Amino acid sequence: MTDPAIPLPVPVPSGVAAVGVGTWAWGNQFLWGYDPAQDAELAACFRRAVDLGLTVFDTADSYGTGRFGGRSESLLGGFVEALPPDRRGALTVATKLAPFPWRLGRRGFERAFEASRRRLRGHLDRVQLHWSTARYAPWQEAALLEGLADLVEQGRVGSLGVSNLGPRRLRLVHGRLARRGLRLSSLQVQLSLLAPDALAAEGVAPVCRELGIELLAYSPLALGLLSRPPGEGQALPPGPRGLLFRRLQPRIQPLLQTMERIACAHNAPMAAVAINWCRAHGALPLVGLRRVDQAEAAAAATSWCLDDGERRDLDRVAQRCDGRMPANPFQSG
Ligand SMILES: NC(=O)c1ccc[n+]([C@@H]2O[C@H](COP(=O)([O-])OP(=O)(O)OC[C@H]3O[C@@H](n4cnc5c(N)ncnc54)[C@H](OP(=O)(O)O)[C@@H]3O)[C@@H](O)[C@H]2O)c1
Repeated sequence: MTDPAIPLPVPVPSGVAAVGVGTWAWGNQFLWGYDPAQDAELAACFRRAVDLGLTVFDTADSYGTGRFGGRSESLLGGFVEALPPDRRGALTVATKLAPFPWRLGRRGFERAFEASRRRLRGHLDRVQLHWSTARYAPWQEAALLEGLADLVEQGRVGSLGVSNLGPRRLRLVHGRLARRGLRLSSLQVQLSLLAPDALAAEGVAPVCRELGIELLAYSPLALGLLSRPPGEGQALPPGPRGLLFRRLQPRIQPLLQTMERIACAHNAPMAAVAINWCRAHGALPLVGLRRVDQAEAAAAATSWCLDDGERRDLDRVAQRCDGRMPANPFQSG
C-alpha cells in the first residue's frame, strides 16, 4: 500500500536517472552517530523506500565502525530478507569492498566477498571496488579487480562496478574487462551541486556516457548541507559534519537561495532539487536515508524533473559557488 499523499514515481524520461538509497549511516558512529536504538527506524525507512518504488541500495563492507563492523550490510540483508520473496527480486543490492593494504592479489577479496554475502543473506547483485589504490599502491588494484571479475565470470555475483576512479583509470579498467568479455556496469563518484567536477568535459561523466557505464552520484546532498534552507541560524549536526557545515554554509547561500526558488516552484523540499539536479545530468543519486520522511522525500523527487532552464540556472550558480565539498583523497586520475 502506498500513501496517496506521496506522488508516485513518474516514468523516467530518457537520459534522466532513477534514485537509489545509500546506507553509510547504518552503522557508522564517527560521522553519522549510529546507535543500535536507531535500527527500528532504519527498518521502517527501508520498508517505506521499497514501498514507494526505490529499488537500488548501496552499502559497503566498511560501513560500520569498531564493534559495528559490517553493520550496514547486516541490517540491509535482514531488511531485504524480511520482504516477501516476490518483492526482493525487484531490488538491486550493491556492496563495495575496501582495498585494505592486507587484501592482496587476485584472491585478495575472496574472504571479504563471502563475508559480505553472508551478512547480506545472499541478497547481493553487484560488487564494487570501493576506491582506487592508484595514488599509493597502483599495483594492488589490477589484481583485485581481476579477482572481482572472476566472481562475475563464475556466476557468484551478477555485475561489477567501481568507485572513486578518474577518467583515465576508468578507461583502463573498462578496457581490461572488455578484453575478458566482461562489462563494467557502474562507476560511483562524489557528485553534487557542491562537487560537480565529474560533469566537466574532462571529468568521468562523458567517459561513462561513451562507454555505457552507469554513473552513480554519491553524497548528492553534500552530507545534508544541500537539504537545508538558506539562512545560517539553524542548529548544526554534531561532530565532524557540524564543522563542515559551519565552514561551508556561509559560502553557499546564493546556491541555496536558487535551490529554494526552484523547490518552491515545484512545491518540493530542498533535497529534491539536489537529487533532481543529479538525475538531470544522467546520474543516479545514492541518497543517504535513515528516516521515513527522508525516504518519502527521495521517492517524491522522482515524480518531477528539472526543466532545462532550472538545470542551467543551478549549473551556473554551482560553478560560481565559493564552497566545495572536500575531494575524496582516494579518487584516482
Ligand atoms: N563510494 C564512496 O566512497 C562513497 C562515499 C560516500 C557515500 N557513498 C554512498 O552514497 C550514499 C549517500 O551519501 P552520504 O550518505 O554521504 O550523504 P548524502 O546523501 O549527501 O546526505 C545524507 C544526509 O542528508 C540528510 N537528508 C537525507 N534526506 C533528506 C531530506 N529529505 N531532507 C533533509 N535532509 C535529508 C540526512 O541527514 P540527517 O539524517 O542528519 O538529517 C542524511 O543522512 C552513502 O550512504 C553511501 O551509500 C559512497
